[in-house]
Amino acid sequence: MTKIQVDGEPYVDVLPAAVLRVVVAAMDSALDEQLREVWPAIVRSGKVETRPYKKEEQEIATDVDPHRVLVPLSRLGAAQGYSGAKVFVGYFADKKNRYLPSRPLVVKVGTWAELDEELHRARAWPPHAQGENSSFAWPWKLYPIPAAISEPHEAVLIANFTSIDSLDMVPTRYDLRIEDLWKQLTGSDSSADLARTLRSVYELIHGVHRHGKVVCERRTFVYGDLYDRYLRRLTKERRQIPVRLFGDQPTTQLYGRSWPNPLCTVDALLRLTCEGAIGPTHGDLHPKNVVLDKSGRPRIIDFGWATPSSHVVVDYVLMELNLRAVTLTPHVPATSTMALARMLSTDDPSPNADDECRWRSDLVRNGIWKSLKDADIIRDWEREYLVPMLIVAFGLLWFLDSAKSQHSLMLTVLCLTERLQKIVTKTPILEPAT
Ligand SMILES: Nc1ncnc2c1ncn2[C@@H]1O[C@H](COP(=O)(O)OP(=O)(O)O)[C@@H](O)[C@H]1O
Ligand SMILES: [Mg+2]
Repeated sequence: MTKIQVDGEPYVDVLPAAVLRVVVAAMDSALDEQLREVWPAIVRSGKVETRPYKKEEQEIATDVDPHRVLVPLSRLGAAQGYSGAKVFVGYFADKKNRYLPSRPLVVKVGTWAELDEELHRARAWPPHAQGENSSFAWPWKLYPIPAAISEPHEAVLIANFTSIDSLDMVPTRYDLRIEDLWKQLTGSDSSADLARTLRSVYELIHGVHRHGKVVCERRTFVYGDLYDRYLRRLTKERRQIPVRLFGDQPTTQLYGRSWPNPLCTVDALLRLTCEGAIGPTHGDLHPKNVVLDKSGRPRIIDFGWATPSSHVVVDYVLMELNLRAVTLTPHVPATSTMALARMLSTDDPSPNADDECRWRSDLVRNGIWKSLKDADIIRDWEREYLVPMLIVAFGLLWFLDSAKSQHSLMLTVLCLTERLQKIVTKTPILEPAT
């Protein structure tokens, strides 16, 4: 196939010129290497008369006058992710409006080392056992390629855009929008059936967790080995943060009463072993990393924390904590927040009042716990689910400022700590875990 030449520089005032050049080169290489996938609208059909059929004989429309369009994420109504990478949606359009535009691509600009790690992690993931690969926005390629430039600082990762792309009035431009679980959890549209969406997320993810097996493999591990990353160094170099919140004594006084100190409990738990379900995990499955396509189907993005083998429960725990605290508005009464924090198993009552905590508790039950039950991966609820939830919640204290409901996060940590005291066998010491 002949190459398509795109003239002119796109104009984006939020990127330095040097970075913009990397973005442009990346888009052009993607177009060049995967023309049929990137811009199917300009590929003409092949000839039936000549056999055998040769893909190379397919031609590109000769009258295309292509140019690049780059739209910053902030224009699509989505917040930037947590990694600090800048995200754009880029596509090619025909200046003369004769051809439909190319497929929109997600262009993630960040440091080469971080994006290389993300690409590597995504590639180490298995294919979906039931062929659902299109529900995951796999990154394609990292630009520039390491051989081309030694240690470039800024690089670009390209993936398919998997949210809402409708062609607007002039059908050569997109009306792009990002819909995600975060917006549905924090927005005013209460009609969304979030429990159903969550269950579809886990139906998808469970195909990966099982790693092609009928039932998940089980293995014994030490909590500290698999969950260290989620602690954000709060039991080590950043220990002064939990010490400021909870003190350094075995008990802490908060919300008008005494609680066991979560720091001591987490220190002790990290050294314990657990037998649990092991498989490939996404590792960062939270509401901003689940985008919805135009028919409302969930698509999983962002493989920066994906691993080929870890405790699969982490993909439920992080989402649950986002439902309980990270996305909860701070304006709910303290009694409801406390009731939600106390609801830690199916035997516990849900919050009474008819408020946000109540529908969130239903969502936890019908979205997360129901999916866990369907997946049938837990034998010991406290050791396999609540301990990881405490460790991950404790690590989220690093982001306490950005949790919408700080009380809910604190209370979740305190209630989990109290519930798990029976597992911590000997009196914990206050030295950092080694
Ligand atoms: N494939 C995609 N389709 C639609 N939107 C996406 C896609 N990839 C990323 N985004 C948007 O960009 C944001 C940041 O991208 P992400 O890969 O999650 O970066 P970070 O590592 O910074 O969290 C996402 O939260 C989402 O709104
Ligand atoms: Mg993200």
